[in-house]
Amino acid sequence: MESKAGSRFAAVEALTSMDRLGDSDNCTYAREEARPPVIALARPDIGELEIQLVNRVLRSDFLSMGEMTPEFERALADYVGAPHAIAVSSGTAGLHCLVRALGIGPGDEVVTTSFSFVASSNVLLYEGARPVFADIEPEQLCLDPDLVEAAITPRTRSILAVDVFGHPCRLDRLKAIADDCGIPLIDDACEALGAELNGVKIGAPGQADAAVFAFFPNKQITTGEGGMVVTGDGRIAAMCRSLRNQGRGEGDQWLVHERLGYNYRLDELGAALGVGQLARIEELLERRDRVADLYRQRLTRVHGVKTYPVAPGVRMSWFVYVVRLDAAIDRDRVARQLAGQGIPTRPYFQPIHLQPFYRERFGYRGGELPVTEAAGRSCLALPFHGRLTAEEVETVAAALEEAIVACSG
Ligand SMILES: Cc1ncc(COP(=O)(O)O)c(C=O)c1O
Repeated sequence: MESKAGSRFAAVEALTSMDRLGDSDNCTYAREEARPPVIALARPDIGELEIQLVNRVLRSDFLSMGEMTPEFERALADYVGAPHAIAVSSGTAGLHCLVRALGIGPGDEVVTTSFSFVASSNVLLYEGARPVFADIEPEQLCLDPDLVEAAITPRTRSILAVDVFGHPCRLDRLKAIADDCGIPLIDDACEALGAELNGVKIGAPGQADAAVFAFFPNKQITTGEGGMVVTGDGRIAAMCRSLRNQGRGEGDQWLVHERLGYNYRLDELGAALGVGQLARIEELLERRDRVADLYRQRLTRVHGVKTYPVAPGVRMSWFVYVVRLDAAIDRDRVARQLAGQGIPTRPYFQPIHLQPFYRERFGYRGGELPVTEAAGRSCLALPFHGRLTAEEVETVAAALEEAIVACSG
């Protein structure tokens, strides 16, 4: 292991005792900040239960396709009240399986939002379909159902909605529009595990034809990488199970492939982590509620900042804590000033239609989606996770207040 240049196995060297497993800051997605963060942008909340469950898998012979994955699927189906849950290797993989399972393909249009993470639209491109972007509502920043309705054409094969930042979109109206057109509604709930609309958990049958959750380490619960498709439709479920498993059928025939499929399986380590996290979900969501509330109370006093408004009838499941800055404030300068003080932020979201690849491929120039673009210029995600202390929230808020004064034009 040792060489003159030092160990190639730094992670092994760092592991001086089993206790070290508990204190890593696993925040690699914040690495490019201007100086090392004094406050983490996001961090997972891993307890002893999860460590024990993952260890149990490590001591078993089944690192993939064992008993943890079906257990995680049952637990999540039970939690959201969905008849079927299919664990996958990422939220993107889950959305891709769904698009394919629904037979969406070349020449088809899907009405969706540009105010999202790029994967929600990329999965349509994987299958040769065309995303048709409808604009969003100015408050909660989810799809505007009236504009969705107006964007439907004879080529529309589905509506793909996104529960932005953990806030359910107007699923009741979107489902009615989809039903009227005889097309399925896909709910990209990658950011919204635990959210509720009118007392019903996101992912429950009836709200959409299928929904997808994601479990990257900044999400409400994590499996490392991972995701879950939930649906009330047995045919969609069976197709997603086959697609994630190299196109195999229901039986035990390992080398028989009924269709083109993928390796989108979640491994047993991730599933064990997911089982442990899901067992603690209420605690995890409550911690995030507390931090969101601390931010809201502190920031409502700050001139030029608008906190995210939760609509009536909604239980928000806080994924990130996003504020909007007044148009006169240079959001990117604010972000740079905060980064200089070791406070990482993110400009969530950069609209999908303005991404270089989408501009090039579809010819977008800006101006097509005014509400989305205004949100894309003014939103800023602050450091957010369930273990942020009141002092850390105060540090971020005070630094933001100072930066706003410095960057107002
Ligand atoms: C709205 C949305 N859709 C899709 C995804 C993709 O999930 P994953 O990163 O697990 O592939 C994400 C991930 O952050 C997301 O926020």
